[in-house]
Amino acid sequence: MIRAIRTGDCEAIAAIETQTFNMALDCGRLLNLMKVRAFCGFVDDANIPNTALKPNNLDMLGNLAGYLLAMITVDEAEILSIAVSAERQKCGRGDRLLGHFLAYTAAQDIKVVFLEVAADNVSALTLYHRHGFAEFGHRPSYYKRTDGDCDAIMMRRSID
Ligand SMILES: CC(C)(COP(=O)(O)OP(=O)(O)OC[C@H]1O[C@@H](n2cnc3c(N)ncnc32)[C@H](O)[C@@H]1OP(=O)(O)O)[C@@H](O)C(=O)NCCC(=O)NCCS
Repeated sequence: MIRAIRTGDCEAIAAIETQTFNMALDCGRLLNLMKVRAFCGFVDDANIPNTALKPNNLDMLGNLAGYLLAMITVDEAEILSIAVSAERQKCGRGDRLLGHFLAYTAAQDIKVVFLEVAADNVSALTLYHRHGFAEFGHRPSYYKRTDGDCDAIMMRRSID
């Protein structure tokens, strides 16, 4: 079930952030972000019993399978982060989260959605292309990594 984010989701989101990103948002930063008026977020409340999950560090996650965090300013939206916990990827959850958010933006009369993605993130790029995002810019060597820099690709999608 996809639903609007709540402050009580922050610990589970922070756990997925740590699992997923080098520059992970922690619970405190998430709570501050949620206070910003332009903030908007959705979570995938998987409703799967914990016993059905693989036993690696999932206690923190509970039923939260993924999330999408965004900012909305007048008629533009920017996706800040989208992630599905590693154990629950490739089951269509990312697809549903992004589809839900795009339907929400359409209902809010938003005209365009922006995001930024690492050039080597094939799963995310595939997902975004499938949902009609198109590339409009590159930031060379934007992501600094120990194993080498990576470009950022900026993408946009018009909302009809
Ligand atoms: C990008 C991300 C959110 C996608 O989430 P996801 O839940 O794995 O995405 P989906 O399951 O909807 O789609 C992923 C793939 O699974 C496939 N898939 C979907 N349902 C499936 C199913 N039931 N069985 C098998 N495969 C399935 C899709 O066809 C897709 O394949 P493709 O990418 O080869 O075309 C996820 O990989 C993630 O969290 N990555 C780490 C964080 C990240 O990089 N975020 C983006 C930052 S910009």
